[in-house]
Amino acid sequence: MLKRFASYLRGYERYAIASPVLVIVETVCQLIIPLLMAQIINEGILKEDMAPIWRAGVLMVVVALCATFTGAVAAKCATNAAQGLGANLRRAEFERIASFSFADIDRFSSSSLITRMTNDVTNIQNTSMICLRILIRAVTMLVASMALTLSINPRLALVVLVILPVMAAALAALMKICFPLFEKMQKALDHLNERVQENLVAVRVVKAYVREDREREKFIDANDGFTAAGLRAVLRMVAIQPVMMICMSAATVLVLYFGGQMVLGLEMDLGYLQTVLDYIMQILMSIMMVGMAVLQLTRAQASIRRVFEVIDAQPSVTSGDGKDLPAPRGRVEFRDVSFRYQTEGAGEDVLRHINLDIQPGQFVAIVGGTGTGKSSLVNLIPRFYDVHKGQVLVDGLDVRNYPLDGLRGRIGMVLQNNVLFSGTIRENLLWGNEDATEEELIQAAKDAQAYDFIMSFPDGLDTNLDQGGVNVSGGQKQRLCIARAMVRRPAVLILDDSTSAVDSATEGRIRESFRENLKGTTVIIIAQRISSVQYADKIVVLDEGAVAGAGTHDELMKTNQIYREIYDSQQEGGGSDE
Ligand SMILES: Nc1ncnc2c1ncn2[C@@H]1O[C@H](COP(=O)(O)OP(=O)(O)O)[C@@H](O)[C@H]1O
Ligand SMILES: [Mg+2]
Repeated sequence: MLKRFASYLRGYERYAIASPVLVIVETVCQLIIPLLMAQIINEGILKEDMAPIWRAGVLMVVVALCATFTGAVAAKCATNAAQGLGANLRRAEFERIASFSFADIDRFSSSSLITRMTNDVTNIQNTSMICLRILIRAVTMLVASMALTLSINPRLALVVLVILPVMAAALAALMKICFPLFEKMQKALDHLNERVQENLVAVRVVKAYVREDREREKFIDANDGFTAAGLRAVLRMVAIQPVMMICMSAATVLVLYFGGQMVLGLEMDLGYLQTVLDYIMQILMSIMMVGMAVLQLTRAQASIRRVFEVIDAQPSVTSGDGKDLPAPRGRVEFRDVSFRYQTEGAGEDVLRHINLDIQPGQFVAIVGGTGTGKSSLVNLIPRFYDVHKGQVLVDGLDVRNYPLDGLRGRIGMVLQNNVLFSGTIRENLLWGNEDATEEELIQAAKDAQAYDFIMSFPDGLDTNLDQGGVNVSGGQKQRLCIARAMVRRPAVLILDDSTSAVDSATEGRIRESFRENLKGTTVIIIAQRISSVQYADKIVVLDEGAVAGAGTHDELMKTNQIYREIYDSQQEGGGSDE
């Protein structure tokens, strides 16, 4: 484990080494001071001689200055090392998350990933700081004080042995109680983050439904839960204080009682009484510090486990190693594909025995009620998820044999819930293809029927999209997403319900431009309105995760009951807008 952490200190090693060394120097300096004090009493005060008082006094100032200086530098180094560790851990997590498939993100949940990248790392950071400074200091103090006490007066050192078991027992009990409480606290924090995230993502919906009060209640619940969990843990920790006080007072009394007798019996110099008392106090304090540091370590263990769980997660979708990739032509085949989500509680197959063969350049529509698996079906093509059984092939090669970038590079995908990113329209379109020329951007915008409204903005392509597109309408956003996918000039273009917010006339024009300008491109389109897909080369009807029929509009109207029902329901008024 320690070795593993050392590897995450890369670039900050010198701080991680300097800090404990300096802490040890600081501690030794502090331990010299009581010895000098004893000298002042024994040689100076008791013998009424000023010279040793001066000598020891000046030395004391030098040693104290040295302790202060090394202490300050040690603190700086420890801070640097801990911050560096945190930065490296966050980077490792981020890089791993970037390779996650949709299924991996589903499994962790994005709010938990955020906690794991922020709060858990901060926890580790603080703990490493405590280890570098407090733990090392306490251990040095403990060992050195014990050695010094034994060398001055072994019999008084026995006092420590009496007090020690009591303290150790108290500390052990505390740890046993607190560890599960800290685990609970971290879970409560996950829950709180989930609430906050959900609320922020859906803030418009919350406001539209005037659900602020309900949401506030839910937040307050989560917040109170976290506070209560925190309080339970911390209040238990505070209980150690009185135990410590009693132990220290008892030690003082015992040292003064036995030590006093020794001084009176001339078995020990008076000056050493105070020194031994100092050291014994240091020993007890150090034990307490070690206990606290260990407690913090156990507490951080939960965070360490959570962070490494992310870093060590094997992405469920990994790049294939296919070398001789087929030329991108746009053929897509499903061979007896079954698929289910791996998330908890989702045991059933969402897609069952799907067989489809889509030829290059075909315009294929997928229709079916909500929840019948249309999105799940198309998500299998760029391997956002992997099939459970069967195969998906693109241009004759199993998608699992493609390197991911090679596969996704030939697919343009407009997701059902698509997002734009903060930045200009141009920057967003370039996501499709970084090397696209101005003409290509304009052509893609025209094909997606986005050119006119883009040009109606004073800054045209350089218009800023605030916060990922709050300043464009839903239909405009969809058209920008389509344009972004078109810039890629993909072999396969997939539109998952991506024209739902676009009016029928514009949708018709988008369809026309696809027909004219994307002759060689395979287009797979999921749509609610039959009117928008009835001219497709092939329409696939999905029902409860299985293909219920496939063919042209006319064929399906004759042979397919489900298709006819969908068509009729849209004719009667509700769905159709022509
Ligand atoms: N990420 C997910 N995890 C678990 N189940 C999911 C997930 N996404 C969709 N589902 C379930 O899979 C089924 C099909 O969903 P989906 O493919 O989105 O349907 P459609 O696009 O046809 O509306 C639904 O029952 C839905 O609840
Ligand atoms: Mg869908």
